[in-house]
Amino acid sequence: MIKNSMVKALNDQINEEMFSSYLYLAMAAQCEAMSLSGFANWMRVQAQEELFHAMKFFGYIAERGGRVELSAIAQPQKEWPSLTTMFEAVYTHECHISECINQLVDLAIQERDYATQNMLQWFVQEQVEEESSADAIVQKMKLVGDAQGAMFMMDRELGTRVFNPPAKEE
Ligand code: FEO
Repeated sequence: MIKNSMVKALNDQINEEMFSSYLYLAMAAQCEAMSLSGFANWMRVQAQEELFHAMKFFGYIAERGGRVELSAIAQPQKEWPSLTTMFEAVYTHECHISECINQLVDLAIQERDYATQNMLQWFVQEQVEEESSADAIVQKMKLVGDAQGAMFMMDRELGTRVFNPPAKEE
């Protein structure tokens, strides 16, 4: 039986993932308002991934016999001064989520909850990718600057991203 302290921490993480989804939707909304459908697409896919993460925690808590408890999702920021600062915010947020996952691992170790430690390894690996992909876009945007042609090219590139949920979680 999973311990209450672990269930509470995992429930908190559902909220973190739901907020992440909301945050990226807010970013998608600003991109849509700027008529940058490719950037908006990237953010929409990111928002879908976050929902997937939240549901992964939801499913795990239920599977272990815990009680999923949902809490209010905070209102995300509405606007960012530039696309570069927006992607810097994505990177900073993903670093925050990585820290949350690390704290969950710490708790699972403290509670000697080996099953949860095992489940969390998927997220540890996922966060490496999340940080890396956000940072790669920040670096690229710093390289190309605000030139219209470069933004058009990036918009086209980011418009190709699709949501691919893992077929079956390990
Ligand atoms: Fe669910 Fe982007 O971390």
